[in-house]
Amino acid sequence: MELRAFLLVVHLLSTLLMAAPFYMLVIVNERARFGAPLGYFTDRYMENIIRNNAVRCFIFQGTMLASGLGLFYITRGGNWVLLLTDPTMVIKWVALAILVSLLSHIHFSVQPRIESLMNQVKPDAPVPEGIAPQIKALRSRRKRLSGICLFLVLTALIMGVRATFFYNFYLALGLVAIAALYAWRVYRKPVPLGWM
Ligand code: HEM
Repeated sequence: MELRAFLLVVHLLSTLLMAAPFYMLVIVNERARFGAPLGYFTDRYMENIIRNNAVRCFIFQGTMLASGLGLFYITRGGNWVLLLTDPTMVIKWVALAILVSLLSHIHFSVQPRIESLMNQVKPDAPVPEGIAPQIKALRSRRKRLSGICLFLVLTALIMGVRATFFYNFYLALGLVAIAALYAWRVYRKPVPLGWM
C-alpha cells in the first residue's frame, strides 16, 4: 500500500511537471502578442527557455514510465499481458511513446536548425536578410507539435484516472474530446483566464 502511494505521488508529480507544452505555448503566444520583430535579446532569451526545457522533459518522461510500470505491476498483480490488451493502458503508453518521439524530433532536429539560424542573429548588427521567415517556419512546426504534446499529456492523464477508477469508457472519450478542444485553444491564443 505504501509503495503504491509513493509511486502514485511520483507519477502525479511527473504529470504536473509535464505541463511544459502548456507553458511553452503560453510563452510563444505572448511572444507573438509582444509583436516586436526578430531581434537578438528577446528571441535569444525565449529560445534559451525553450531549448533548456527538453532535457528536463526527457527526465520526467522516464520517471513517468518507471513509476507507471511500478504502479501497473502492483495494481494488476504482474499481469503484463494487460499492457497490450487493456485499451486504457495501451492509450497511456502509446501516448507516452509519441511524446518521447515528438520531443526527440524537436530536440535533435528542429531546435538545432533554429539554433544555427539564431546564431547568425547578433546583438550589435541588423538581422541578416531571409533569416526571419526561416525561423518563423520552424517555430510554427514546433508550436504545432507542442499543441499535440499538450493533448497527449491530457489524454494520458484522463486514462490514468480511468486506470484507477475504471469509469465509463464513453465518459473518458468525452473528456478526451474536451482535452482536444482545450489544447487547440491554448495553441491558438494565450489563455488569460486559464480555461479560456
Ligand atoms: C504522459 C504519460 C502519463 C500520464 C500523464 C499519466 C498520468 C496518470 C494519472 C494522472 C494517474 C491517476 C492516478 C489517480 O487516479 O489518482 C495515473 C495512474 C496510473 N498510471 Fe499513468 N500516466 C502516464 C503514463 C503511464 C504509463 C506509461 C504507465 C504504465 C505503463 C502508467 C500506469 C499507470 C497506472 C497503472 C495507474 C493506476 C495507479 C493506481 O491505481 O494506483 N501511466 N497516471
